[in-house]
Amino acid sequence: MAILKIARMGHPVLFRRAEPVPDPTAPEIRRLIADMLDTVRDADGAGLAAPQVHVPLRLFVFRVPAARAGDAAETAERPFEALVNPEVQPLGDSVDEGWEGCLSIPGMQGVVPRHARIRYRGLDAEGRPVDREAAGFHARVVQHENDHLDGMLYTMRLRDFTRFGFSEELSRAASCDAEPAEETGS
Ligand code: NI
Repeated sequence: MAILKIARMGHPVLFRRAEPVPDPTAPEIRRLIADMLDTVRDADGAGLAAPQVHVPLRLFVFRVPAARAGDAAETAERPFEALVNPEVQPLGDSVDEGWEGCLSIPGMQGVVPRHARIRYRGLDAEGRPVDREAAGFHARVVQHENDHLDGMLYTMRLRDFTRFGFSEELSRAASCDAEPAEETGS
C-alpha cells in the first residue's frame, strides 16, 4: 500500500496534456493504479487522475459513491475502477450544473456545467476494453477526471463565481438557504 502525494493547483503537472499509456498492462501501470486507489480512498475522493499524483499519463480512477447515485435514472453506485487511455464523447446538447470539488484544490467547491450524457471508451485495469454511456454524477466524475488529462481543472470551467468558494463557508450558507453543497473531491 502506498499513499501518493497529490499535486495542488499551481503545480505545472496539472496544466500539461498527459501522454497515452504505452502499455496498459505493464507491471508499473498496475502498481500505479493500485497506489492511486489507495490514495483516493485515503483522501476520501470520488476520483483521481494520474497527473494529480505527478504522473503525466492518460489514466484515472473513479467511483460513483452511494451518496451521489440516483442523480439521474442511469446512475447507480459504482465501486472504484480505472480507465486507461480514455476517450469521452458528449451525447446530445444537454448540459447539467453540479457542485464539484477536487483533491488538487482542497477545501473548495464550485458549480460546474458538464455534458449531461456521455459515451466513454478506454481500457480497464486488466487491459479489457470499456465502452459505456453515463449520465448524472457518473458522467460528471468521468468528465472531471478526463479534463485532468488535458491539463484542465474545474475552476477553468466555472461560469458563476458566486457559486465557488470554501466548502466551510458554502455549507454554512447552505444551512441558511437550504442549498445543497456536497463535497466530492476528485
Ligand atoms: Ni480533480
